[in-house]
Amino acid sequence: MKWPAQRLSAASKKSFGMFDEASKLDADGVDLIHLEFGRPHADTPAHIKEAAKAALDAGIVHYGDFRGTLSFRQALAEKLKDFNRLDYGPDEILVTNGLTHASFAAFMAAIDPGDEVILLDPYYPQHIAKTELAGGRVVIAGLDKENNFSISKAAIAAKITERTRMIVLVNPANPTGRVYSAQELQHIADLAIEHDLLVLSDEVYEYITYGHAQHVSIASLPRMRERTITCFAFTKAYSMDGWRIGYLTADARLMPAILRITMTDVTHVNVFVQEGARAAVEGPQDAMRAMVEADRRKRDIVVQALNQMPGVFCAEPEGTIYAFPDISGTGWASDDLAMAILTEAHVVVESGSFYGAGGEGHLRVCFGSESEARVTEAMERLTRFFNTAEQPLRKKPISNIKGDAQ
Ligand SMILES: Cc1ncc(COP(=O)(O)O)c(C=O)c1O
Repeated sequence: MKWPAQRLSAASKKSFGMFDEASKLDADGVDLIHLEFGRPHADTPAHIKEAAKAALDAGIVHYGDFRGTLSFRQALAEKLKDFNRLDYGPDEILVTNGLTHASFAAFMAAIDPGDEVILLDPYYPQHIAKTELAGGRVVIAGLDKENNFSISKAAIAAKITERTRMIVLVNPANPTGRVYSAQELQHIADLAIEHDLLVLSDEVYEYITYGHAQHVSIASLPRMRERTITCFAFTKAYSMDGWRIGYLTADARLMPAILRITMTDVTHVNVFVQEGARAAVEGPQDAMRAMVEADRRKRDIVVQALNQMPGVFCAEPEGTIYAFPDISGTGWASDDLAMAILTEAHVVVESGSFYGAGGEGHLRVCFGSESEARVTEAMERLTRFFNTAEQPLRKKPISNIKGDAQ
């Protein structure tokens, strides 16, 4: 018997990074502070829960529209106009089980065997498996590391071939915390238009921006609406990760193929969950804004603390719930340092190389997943770790750089 299918073998070689390592210590009862999960700390706002409960009580329990409830998609169309400056009608919006499902459907609808998909390194590792499951080939283009991981038009242009089909963008960016400017996004837009490519834009952190950073949806740039599939979710800003709800937008010409995928894999998304998410879009936004403000405070604690640690430099994240400190000055390789921090400081952070070779020399520190008190304690543990007298003796030379699956 041949088992499993080859595409699964190819895609399943990814690990869960430090989560796997930490689980062993968790099982032994060690008090770990988890700064590796990209999950929000707060509970879902009460009015959202109430709307879902009311929907259940009202008997909203039967099959619904394959694309998502019309009233919900109409509410989303308004949100897209107001916040993203995107003009998509309800028929160009598809409700999905979180962003993961939205982008999976987009990959499956867009990618043929042998097509090349460009990921910007450091990248979000899920996009590798999605490319492979669709039969495509991952092509890595580096972000400009020397310039706070900005978008380099030349680096992307150098990777475009006859087989290139799609460029994948994560904005605001996980793991770097960048919020790309309209000028940076224009580089991708210019290349996509010149070479007739699709862009998949993952905007799961759209609301989580700080200070002057402003989120721009690439589909709002001239001539990008028709070639961009934008994926959104309620996961992060509304603290609804376990609800599994998101949506995508695509031009009417692209939508039927995407819908064929989602009708096949899930039929449609749970109807009373959609009612909760509709309350999130239509209701008061103050709870969501308060959660982003709490993230900003935790970001400041983390950035300030990391910048005091010897050999560490941390640029201020403009958005997301991640700091991506440069630890190359410590002399440690990222994997080794993340492991030492786990076993000795009992703090779980992700190695930068988990996100590709471009992430080597960095750690990803998620400040969104724990309370302010626990994040503060984690920084105290790290400070002690970096300042212990013996610590430099434990330094190892930069060992093999392990890029993720590439
Ligand atoms: C860039 C990015 N995309 C997608 C997801 C997953 O989103 P969801 O839980 O809505 O599927 C995450 C979660 O960490 C993420 O960081």
